[in-house]
Amino acid sequence: MLPDFSTERLFLRPRTIADLGACLAMDRDPEVTRFVAGPWADPKAHEAFVRARMLRDWGAGLGYWSIAARAAPDRFLGWILLLPLDGEEPGIEIGWRLARAAWGHGYASEAACPIVAHAFNTLLLSRIIAEINPGNAGSIRVAEKIGMQRDAVVPAEAGYISFVMTRDDFHSTRA
Ligand SMILES: CC(C)(COP(=O)(O)OP(=O)(O)OC[C@H]1O[C@@H](n2cnc3c(N)ncnc32)[C@H](O)[C@@H]1OP(=O)(O)O)[C@@H](O)C(=O)NCCC(=O)NCCS
Repeated sequence: MLPDFSTERLFLRPRTIADLGACLAMDRDPEVTRFVAGPWADPKAHEAFVRARMLRDWGAGLGYWSIAARAAPDRFLGWILLLPLDGEEPGIEIGWRLARAAWGHGYASEAACPIVAHAFNTLLLSRIIAEINPGNAGSIRVAEKIGMQRDAVVPAEAGYISFVMTRDDFHSTRA
């Protein structure tokens, strides 16, 4: 079972199947999924994809957290994740997605803080990664704001930018 978290303005709780409708509605906004590959245009495949990810066991301490404002705890704003990377490279990825109405309030960066602390203080991960489309300026800014560094190792042809935070980075910025 994943822990709950709270921040100054937000509650984060483990995402459950009860969030399915809200997640599907969020993904149906083409601006939200503009920089993210997925079966968004096919309703059946989309629902099957999200449902499968909701029901999957991602490993101890890993998974998705739904985000809500403390002021409106029943309203789904989006999610934040900590998951094994999809590709061939081993590693743990941090990711974020919010419904468009929730953009621009600093929520993604705020929600990332307890997840990053969980990654390093509880799971004792050595590093976390965010793979971001180079055109996704908002997401790049979130990675920068939470203290991730651009990974020079990923070649430009990869089609994404990799941001990394190591446990040493995490502890040195909070010392
Ligand atoms: C990326 C996303 C989670 C950001 O959420 P958010 O709560 O608005 O993020 P924050 O407010 O914490 O920070 C966003 C930062 O990016 C900046 N930003 C947002 N859009 C921008 C743009 N188009 N160009 C430049 N900067 C931009 C904001 O000004 C802010 O920086 P600041 O605090 O220095 O002003 C949200 O836009 C989203 O859900 N996008 C769709 C899903 C997605 O692409 N997820 C990431 C996949 S890698």
